[in-house]
Amino acid sequence: MEKEICEIPSVVEGILKKYNTVLSLKYHKMIKTISSAKTIHIAACGTSYHAGLILGELFEKYCQIRTKTYFASEVSDCLVCKEDVCIVISQSGETTHTLNALEYFNKLGIQTISLVNVENSTMANRADFCINLHAGPEISVASTKVFVASLLVGVILINSIAKLKFKQTVFKSRDFEELIASSKRAVKDKKNSKKLVHKDLQRLFYLGTGLDVYLAYEAALKIKETCYIHCEGYASGEFKHGPIAMVDDKTMIVDIASDGALGFVIGVIPNYFFALYLSRAKGLDPDKPRNLTKCVKDLDSYMG
Ligand code: F6R
Repeated sequence: MEKEICEIPSVVEGILKKYNTVLSLKYHKMIKTISSAKTIHIAACGTSYHAGLILGELFEKYCQIRTKTYFASEVSDCLVCKEDVCIVISQSGETTHTLNALEYFNKLGIQTISLVNVENSTMANRADFCINLHAGPEISVASTKVFVASLLVGVILINSIAKLKFKQTVFKSRDFEELIASSKRAVKDKKNSKKLVHKDLQRLFYLGTGLDVYLAYEAALKIKETCYIHCEGYASGEFKHGPIAMVDDKTMIVDIASDGALGFVIGVIPNYFFALYLSRAKGLDPDKPRNLTKCVKDLDSYMG
């Protein structure tokens, strides 16, 4: 996990290099297809779902396309029309719930796009279009660098769609340069997260506003997976409407405040380091979370 979080700056640079070259005709066809969609249906699980929540907001804001983001396991009875598209996001490309969601939208006859990290995975092959996340192999069960890769590749897609629809990109070269620099800074500063670790911590809340709400969800998931303590992500305002009653002297509250145009892409890095160090301080192995496997597959329930 530590190695993979530390790889994030090179993943960011690698993705930007890949997408800075001449892109295939198929890529342009896909951009055209998405830009004429009435609704984008995004389906994913876990960390990939959190990336989907962020990208959903960005598609609405910058591409002016209505977007619905679903837990892949809950996809059913969706209202779709023939111009809609479905985007699935997955590190492995093999998660059964997400595969089932992809098959569901394939059967409805709309165009499907997969954002996957594993080339030639089932999701890569079963979607009409596939975009590789180019994060390199992710071995640690807790997904980290692929979350950042999903956001960045999604942002590049959004930029291409905005350029086609509105003749201008949303994010500029200087934003991407700043992103590379700030990802390097975030990794260099990893020891700052270690200073905040108390091994007796029993409860943790991550709070945020705007896109940082979703980073709060993602940070909380990583604590659950690696530290086995109660942890939740909330919108800061909503936290006052009930959950605040849980706060006691064994509770820590972390306010996530990413900054800069693309700060949300790497804003979770200090929280990933915090989960890693807290897990170790508790004598746990963050690379071997209990009851979890890298890819949640249940072939009996695969409907493809
Ligand atoms: C979180 C984690 C899981 C996966 C989820 C989806 O750290 O690893 O929540 O994100 O099972 O997996 P993929 O992205 O492979 O479909």
